[in-house]
Amino acid sequence: MTNALKIIRDEHRSISAVLHALKQLAKEAEDSSVRPQFEVFRAMIYYIDQFPERMHHPKEDQYLFARLEARAPQAKALLDGLRTEHATGAHLIRDLEQALVGMEVGWAGGVSKFRAAVEAYAEFHWKHMRKEEEQLMPLAERHLTEADWRWIEDAFAGNHDPIADLRERDFEQLYHRIVNLAPAPIGLGEAWQKTS
Ligand SMILES: [Fe+2]
Ligand SMILES: [Fe+2]
Repeated sequence: MTNALKIIRDEHRSISAVLHALKQLAKEAEDSSVRPQFEVFRAMIYYIDQFPERMHHPKEDQYLFARLEARAPQAKALLDGLRTEHATGAHLIRDLEQALVGMEVGWAGGVSKFRAAVEAYAEFHWKHMRKEEEQLMPLAERHLTEADWRWIEDAFAGNHDPIADLRERDFEQLYHRIVNLAPAPIGLGEAWQKTS
């Protein structure tokens, strides 16, 4: 596997870990005798908004998808579908934000709506990443040249954009913050407190 694909898969693993944790915590929030720590939900949703939605997907569009379409026109239908999913994801994350605000201001109401938004987003995103890994990546491995891979790897490693490297480090910090905030056993944080 090329380094570029390894980077993309690693990014998928990080996104997936946050989605799993978010899903588990949304389930725990249904226990209305325990007040959730909303800060961890905010940090997770901020991460998902900033990292996959504003960085990972645009880089896929701009580099991997664009180059594959040029080399393998038969991939167009698959690529168009994935591009549409990127646009849909950007809408779904707004729904998720709204559902979180609704839960936070109306707690202990709004939890089931928030949980449904989390489930919808997580399922959607997992399906999307699976499609990329199972359908897009094998095609790309077959059709892209070594020079293409270097160009894509440079983009994903942040070499085209002087501030991208800095942002990658910010995301690592944010990821660690999520791990530290999430209550055990999901993360390293304190258990949520009973309200009575
Ligand atoms: Fe994607
Ligand atoms: Fe992806």
